[in-house]
Amino acid sequence: MILAPLQGLTEVLFRRVYEECFPGAIAMAVSPFLSLTHNIHHSRGSARQTYLADVLPENNAGSIAVIPQILGREAEEFVELAGMLADMGYTEVNWNIGCPMRAVTGKHRGSGILPYPEEVRQMLDAVVPRLRCRLSIKTRLGLREKEEIFKLVPIFNDYPIATVTIHPRTGKQQYGGQPDLEVFGQVMPMLKAPVVYNGDICTRADAERIRTLFPGISEVMIGRGVLYDPTLPLRLRGDTLTDGEAREKSRHFVRRMIEEINLRLPNDEMRTRKTKEYWALLWKTLPISELQARSVLRAQELAAVDNLIEQFIQ
Ligand SMILES: Cc1cc2nc3c(=O)[nH]c(=O)nc-3n(C[C@H](O)[C@H](O)[C@H](O)COP(=O)(O)O)c2cc1C
Repeated sequence: MILAPLQGLTEVLFRRVYEECFPGAIAMAVSPFLSLTHNIHHSRGSARQTYLADVLPENNAGSIAVIPQILGREAEEFVELAGMLADMGYTEVNWNIGCPMRAVTGKHRGSGILPYPEEVRQMLDAVVPRLRCRLSIKTRLGLREKEEIFKLVPIFNDYPIATVTIHPRTGKQQYGGQPDLEVFGQVMPMLKAPVVYNGDICTRADAERIRTLFPGISEVMIGRGVLYDPTLPLRLRGDTLTDGEAREKSRHFVRRMIEEINLRLPNDEMRTRKTKEYWALLWKTLPISELQARSVLRAQELAAVDNLIEQFIQ
């Protein structure tokens, strides 16, 4: 399995703690996106270090192989950023054309480019021949219509794309409704590149169902499912865990995450916010009620947040 990019969640802090608690369980991750903001590649010193922090090799020395992801449709900047990443030793970059956020899609970025196949072609034409590393793509079925993908398939097939990861929803759907497995099943065999399935895999049974339905997929990518149950990647690789063992591992993971957040983030306001962002997903791994989980989200002070979590993981 591949760890999905979740902006604000699966950055290096998470990946490091994950690797420490579950060595070898996740072999590969796509990083949350680096947005092509103007002139960032011309910036020097600390601004550049901050922008690239999540993918700097010195921050990623562990066993999870990271594929940096880029969001945007500015070809020149894409090539330049991909070049910087290649210089760091990366052999693949991932183009995000699936992001559903309005602020992004309005500018034909993320899934906003999907209704415009010619813009996708122009971008690939301008970028692919100049890359010094492989290019993979992460996409949805469309922005508004799930059929948009069918006009993109022949374009993707004209370029040496390393993999195409498909989250079978539209951008408009965001995360609502069900992934459209029927359309995914139609598109998958039409693509020349290996296809990765992504979306709503939360249990080993979910992953097995996808692999049974689509034996042709090269991999599954999982995001939220790993936060709902950090032991999921262990189960996927075949580990058998009792409920008690799984709970103990999850508790330890949550505790280590809180410790790292408190250690790495610069002030209590940021620590509180970040802890709550993780807690909103991670609580599901613990045997507590939604009401109890919400009490953490309602707490104001960091000490209160941490105390409540500590009680729940006892
Ligand atoms: C909070 C959040 C942040 C996300 N950030 C990114 C991102 O940076 N890049 C990206 O391609 N997808 C991003 N996604 C989409 C996920 O990678 C993934 O496609 C989606 O969550 C469906 O997979 P899942 O059901 O396994 O979580 C994000 C999703 C969420 C919920």
